[in-house]
Amino acid sequence: MTLRRSVLYIPGNNAKALAKAAGLPADVLILDLEDAVAPADKDAARTGVLQALREHDYADREIVVRINDIHTDTGREDMQAIAAQSRVSAVLLPKVESADSVQHARHLLVEQGGKHMGLWAMIETPRGVMQVDSIAAADKSLAVLVMGTNDLAKAMRVPQTPAREGFQYALSRCVLAARCHGLDVIDGVYIHLDDEAGLQAACEQGLRLGFDGKTLIHPKQLAITNQAFAPSAAAVESARRMVAAWDAAGGDKGVMVVDGRLVEALHVEEARRTLALAERIAVRGS
Ligand code: COA
Ligand code: MG
Repeated sequence: MTLRRSVLYIPGNNAKALAKAAGLPADVLILDLEDAVAPADKDAARTGVLQALREHDYADREIVVRINDIHTDTGREDMQAIAAQSRVSAVLLPKVESADSVQHARHLLVEQGGKHMGLWAMIETPRGVMQVDSIAAADKSLAVLVMGTNDLAKAMRVPQTPAREGFQYALSRCVLAARCHGLDVIDGVYIHLDDEAGLQAACEQGLRLGFDGKTLIHPKQLAITNQAFAPSAAAVESARRMVAAWDAAGGDKGVMVVDGRLVEALHVEEARRTLALAERIAVRGS
């Protein structure tokens, strides 16, 4: 199990942010060459990311690089620059709309020395949402789907309200596709940097929709998000009691009652997952 509660974007041409990221409690860092970088700064961002990978110690965090569209020269140059970087665990592909483009990216990645890397796919267009099942099944190197809710809002002409009514179908469809194919799935960003209550609510909603974590744009969003996507102390305690009771009974009961609630094998499996998650978070330290 890989912790992916907080997934922080860092513009590839922002040297200060790339340095700061080394000391931030983000589970995953996305070094961005795409939307956060103006067209004129693409080369500088590529150089900035390579320099950051050489100079900074990002410890045990997963490092992902978001490249430009693989069907453009910029995207192909990004892939070429990143593929052989051993510290990078995955390449994030923007605006994925077909299984073909995932397979094409995998082909280029392997060709350029990136066999060790995984692929992540952004789902941020109506076509991407409609094709998400085949995208999620496209290649076994694909590990994570990431919602791009800003692009999706624009393309769908749906306003970004607090309740995100217009996105429920798209978000749930992507969660279902991820679960069908054993992928993780990360929610979109919350753009109101000073609205802590709003971020908290957005995290809780994302968790209830089934997301494993949330993409973020600023360090001040980390603490709330890490906490929201971590099991609460009460949930951990309840899981511990459930597993202990189940194991004490020999682990082969069809059903039992623990703390006044029905427990079946599936609940015990869920409880073990909660405990494993809590353990990983304890190791990370926050
Ligand atoms: N990752 C790491 N560090 C970041 C950061 C990020 N995404 N955003 C800001 N910081 C750092 C700043 O460098 C600054 O560092 P310092 O303490 O060493 O001075 C500190 O956090 C405070 O930053 P602040 O002054 O509040 O913000 P800013 O004006 O420098 O940047 C944004 C604001 C929105 C431009 C910036 O947060 C950003 O570019 N975010 C990412 C946007 C993005 O990637 N979008 C694409 C995906 S939607
Ligand atoms: Mg986008």
